[in-house]
Amino acid sequence: MSSKDNKSPSSIEINKLLGNYQSKKFDLAENSARLIIKKYRVNFQNNNEGFIKHWPNDYDIYGWLIEMKSGGELHPHMHDTGWITGSIYINVPSNLNSESGNIVVSVNDREFPFSNHEIKKNSIDITTGSICLFPSSLLHHTIPFSSQEESIVLAFDVLPE
Ligand SMILES: [Fe+2]
Repeated sequence: MSSKDNKSPSSIEINKLLGNYQSKKFDLAENSARLIIKKYRVNFQNNNEGFIKHWPNDYDIYGWLIEMKSGGELHPHMHDTGWITGSIYINVPSNLNSESGNIVVSVNDREFPFSNHEIKKNSIDITTGSICLFPSSLLHHTIPFSSQEESIVLAFDVLPE
């Protein structure tokens, strides 16, 4: 039997199908992120902060998945190429203690000793389904957690064009 007569899809056809499926998933994630960003902007439309007033007209979205096991954490950092950073909490382990697993945003941190002023920080409680948006220039880190479950977060940056 020749390959043309074979009704099973070839590996190339399967990869093509998987490729279409994967691109649709990414399209859905990007469209969701764009909607969230649009709502954020509308919510702060009367705000006079330069961050809001000079919002880029066109932008790309770069997204990535963060999966962390028990004890995992992100150290303080910022996203210097982004305008706004978002995180969509796909799974936050249940029954976490106090602030463990939280994201903390700050204008300074012990690893970035820019000044001697008191560190202004905000620890944000998150649960599965939470969405967090903040200026990409803001330092942020996460508090380690202990759980049998994984933490899964879809993070994205708005990149001005
Ligand atoms: Fe980050």
